Parts: sequence; structure tokens; C-alpha cells
Amino acid sequence: MDLDQAMQDRRSIRGFTGDPVPRAVLEEVIALANRAPSSMNTQPWHFHVLTGEPLERVRQGNSERMLAGVPVQREIMDHGEYEGVHRTRQIEIAVQLFEAMGIERHDKAKRQDWVMRGFRQFDAPVSVVVCFDKSLEDRSTIAHFDLGAATYGLVLAAWSRGLGAVINGQGIMQSPVVREVAQIPDDQVILTCVALGWPDEGFSANAVKSRRRPVENTARFIGFDDTAESLKAGE
Ligand SMILES: Cc1cc2nc3c(=O)[nH]c(=O)nc-3n(C[C@H](O)[C@H](O)[C@H](O)COP(=O)(O)O)c2cc1C
Repeated sequence: MDLDQAMQDRRSIRGFTGDPVPRAVLEEVIALANRAPSSMNTQPWHFHVLTGEPLERVRQGNSERMLAGVPVQREIMDHGEYEGVHRTRQIEIAVQLFEAMGIERHDKAKRQDWVMRGFRQFDAPVSVVVCFDKSLEDRSTIAHFDLGAATYGLVLAAWSRGLGAVINGQGIMQSPVVREVAQIPDDQVILTCVALGWPDEGFSANAVKSRRRPVENTARFIGFDDTAESLKAGE
């Protein structure tokens, strides 16, 4: 698959067929993710790939605790409530997803069901728990950057093989459960997880294409011939 096409077409997949994903395919995907750039080639990432019974235990533990009102227990700092443009964009994608799924704004039961799906990692056959070396925790911003690059690589490599994925912060909201079931070593910090599997073509949310800001809103070009005049004019 052409890289541009994969980057254009990729979207988060939140509905999966029950078909298992062969370990060999997952190994290929992780080998490609491992090619990500990192600060001074430190490669601080670790992927713990769960399926079957251990994944069911994670789903169950995560869901039960969230339902019981156990406070979120992440190993990274919480981003808190988004505000301003970030909140606007958050609402926009939620509206798109809810519309696709036929979830009315005031339908509390269906909304709750959607949130619970997230805690169950959308019932994906595979969950990749993404961790970084704890020794870098105090300098974690750069390690987070490295892991973001590797995780995006993983998702794109999966996509180019026909696999669907969603980076799923909800899946590690009860990180002690993940840590215990997956036996995450003490010298690693859980950052996020990726729910992964074969896309269910009939699942309407899978067709949702989230919007992006155009280049003129995300980038400035300085020193290019055609911007010299506008810079001079103080624009
Ligand atoms: C760090 C991170 C955490 C995310 N956590 C969740 C999540 O818990 N649940 C979910 O449905 N999507 C989650 N997503 C997916 C985003 O909602 C999605 O990437 C965004 O809306 C853009 O849509 P797209 O991936 O289809 O382009 C997460 C993405 C990132 C990068």
C-alpha cells in the first residue's frame, strides 16, 4: 500500500470481527514500529501483546473497576478536561461517532454502553500495551514523543495489512489490572494501549473520518519567496 494513501485513509477502528490475528503478522507490524525515530536512538518502547484469556481478564478488571467508580489509575499524568479549541474538536469527533452509531445526545444508556466498549478495548482480539523505560520517567516528555512515533508507525503498519486499530487510553485507565495480568516489569511505565484486529465492515463508526485543520491553519512558512512580502507587511 502506498504510504500517502495509508496516511490519508487510516482512521481509528472500533469494531472488529472475531477473527484472530496471526502472531507472525503482529511481529511484522512491531518490527516496522521499531523503525521509528527516537531521541538519540534510545528506543525506549516496549510492546506487550495480549490476546485470549489474559486480554479478557484485563477487559473484565478494567470494566468492573470503572463501573464500580474506582478512580482512574494511570501511570502517566492525566490530561484533565480539555478546553477551548481542544474541547471543540473533542466534541466534534464524539458527535460524528455518535451520529454514525445512532446514539442520541440524551440517550444516557447508549452513551454509557459506548464508554464501556472503550473500557473493553472495543472487544478487539488483540491489545498492545505500550510502555516506556521507567529510568526516563523524569524526562518523560521526550520518551512520550518517541513512543508516539512508534505507536503511529505500529498503527500505520497494521493498516497497510488490512488490520484496524485504535489507540485506546481507556484500556489502561485501571493500569494496576493491566500491570498484574500482563506482568509488566517494574522498570517500565504503562503509557497507553492499542486495540487491534480485523475491521468489522458493518460497524458504522469504522467509516467515520475525523476532520483535520488545513495546512494554512497548522503551519507557517518563513523565508519562502512567496511569504517575504507578507512578513514585511507584518501579517
Ligand atoms: C493518546 C490517544 C489516546 C486515545 N484514546 C482513545 C480512547 O480511549 N477511546 C477512543 O475511542 N479513541 C481513542 N483515541 C483515538 C482518537 O479519538 C482518534 O485518534 C481521534 O479522534 C482522531 O480520529 P482518527 O484516529 O480516526 O483519525 C486515542 C488516540 C490517542 C492518540
